[in-house]
Amino acid sequence: MTKSCLNPPYIQDYQHFEQHIAKIFSKAGWKVETAKNNQPGYDLIVRNDRYTVAVQVKWLKGKVSTPQILKFSDFLDSEAGKKFDYGFFITTKGFSNPVLSLIKSWAKGTKMYCGIALESNINWIKPVIDSPKPKPKNKIYFGIFTCKGGVGKTTISAHLAGAFVLQELNVALIDLDPEQNLSKLVGDGVYLPNKKSGIGNSIEVFKPEEWDEYVVPDAQLVICDCSPAFDRNPPELIAKFDYCLIPTTLNPLGINKHGKVIEDTVKSIRKINQKAHLFVVVNNYKKTSKNKLNILRKTYLNAYYDIEQQDDKFHCIDPEQAAIRASDQLYYWGIHLLENPDESHGELAFNLIGGRCHPREDFINLADYIETAIGGDIFRAYK
Ligand SMILES: Nc1ncnc2c1ncn2[C@@H]1O[C@H](COP(=O)(O)OP(=O)(O)OP(=O)(O)O)[C@@H](O)[C@H]1O
Ligand SMILES: [Mg+2]
Repeated sequence: MTKSCLNPPYIQDYQHFEQHIAKIFSKAGWKVETAKNNQPGYDLIVRNDRYTVAVQVKWLKGKVSTPQILKFSDFLDSEAGKKFDYGFFITTKGFSNPVLSLIKSWAKGTKMYCGIALESNINWIKPVIDSPKPKPKNKIYFGIFTCKGGVGKTTISAHLAGAFVLQELNVALIDLDPEQNLSKLVGDGVYLPNKKSGIGNSIEVFKPEEWDEYVVPDAQLVICDCSPAFDRNPPELIAKFDYCLIPTTLNPLGINKHGKVIEDTVKSIRKINQKAHLFVVVNNYKKTSKNKLNILRKTYLNAYYDIEQQDDKFHCIDPEQAAIRASDQLYYWGIHLLENPDESHGELAFNLIGGRCHPREDFINLADYIETAIGGDIFRAYK
């Protein structure tokens, strides 16, 4: 038996190997093109709707050495290389130790990614962007934003994400607030058992500089916990919002003042984004007598009447239909930040007490309300 027979069929020779790599990328949703004969610098071009990447295919009996890697790196820096967003260097047997330390020393923003081709995927050497990546699904973006601190933006972001995950949707959270309460609370992600699959689902939290649709290609929904200071939120993300929840409270002496805050909130959002549906939602809702509640509701709905007349995508949610009740569970959820500041909490206030859980019911109801208001099965259509 010759030595090469020990190789899997796809690395029998250079040609098989190049075809194999083309197949892996194409299966992952990339368009693959072969470079012209004798094209210096690369062998394949792979594209998706965002990136154009030069791929260097190296069929070698041994490991890749430093000059081979540096040659590709020089190509990417050259005029011809500059038209590519990234360069992928893919080989058969691996990389020498000096090359590995070189790759690992590259910063996260590197243009070159190196990997070893396996039977059905590529084993990338870190730092990686987990490629070849499946084409990300079109995502629906939610912003949770009010020009006011402490109204429940972070609490609502995390738990609304949880309510969608309970419905088997994949959700990513982005923490836009420089305070980073969300990242501190759920740094390693929130895990929720998912009944259907039995394996559960976790929600990951990203900082804006880490966010790229390709880091979570499977997420259908992206929920952004905004900073109350509008200008501290990246405008390119605000522009992406399809929906925005504007939390407020039903504070008897403050309703009219809150009306003004919400007017400013809507104005700020509309400067950048005219497409998003905006929903005002009452948080910290306290049930009182029917009479008192009616007065509060009326004043609240009146406070937003003018905006509703001017903006047909502005919706003020009647708290009797959907609101987040005041609850000890939500109040104590945040205490973890003070008790164990260095440890991620990884839990939502969704635990049942005596068979019920107000936050769980309220957030599922809110998710349902939004979905119905915007016309049915829209989130599931993205599955
Ligand atoms: N429905 C609720 N019931 C009880 N406590 C709540 C409720 N919603 C929020 N809280 C508590 O109110 C406080 C403020 O909430 P949260 O941090 O979510 O607001 P925020 O708008 O994100 O604030 P910031 O503007 O500082 O980012 C937290 O301590 C939270 O636990
Ligand atoms: Mg917050």
